[in-house]
Amino acid sequence: MAKTILILNGPNLNMLGARQPEIYGSETLDDVAGLCAETAAIFGQETELRQSNHEGELVDWIHEARDSFAAIIINPGAYSHTSVAILDALNMFEGPVAEVHLSNIHAREEFRHNSYVSGRADAVIVGCGPAGYGFAVEQVCACLSDAVT
Ligand code: DQA
Repeated sequence: MAKTILILNGPNLNMLGARQPEIYGSETLDDVAGLCAETAAIFGQETELRQSNHEGELVDWIHEARDSFAAIIINPGAYSHTSVAILDALNMFEGPVAEVHLSNIHAREEFRHNSYVSGRADAVIVGCGPAGYGFAVEQVCACLSDAVT
């Protein structure tokens, strides 16, 4: 059975659409889920999108992905800038990892400039809004198809 692409979202991303729309836009996380599913379908892949406001839950899901998912796309939200635990968990995952940020973290406050997760990510997409998730799906699908050819 084909393994799905797991799309993880960290704290406050459940508020997408209502949260600082001048920075994060008006689309919701459900809209993002739809875009990811549609993009993956073009490549014959499937996606499952999850969101948590809790660091440990994200770590548990990354552990689960080791056996159950082909690739991980992650927007760790604020945990990008603080979480060695999420980086350590991702370092145990063998498939492709893409990191997404809706905003351009490098053009914002200095504390957002470093992401621990970028140390493991195969691709990092910033500042493209929700479209960035679609680009990340395309990228991991390309990696997955390279892996079977
Ligand atoms: C974010 C950027 C982070 O700095 C912030 O804490 C978020 C969202 C983004 O998608 O632009 O929660 O990851």
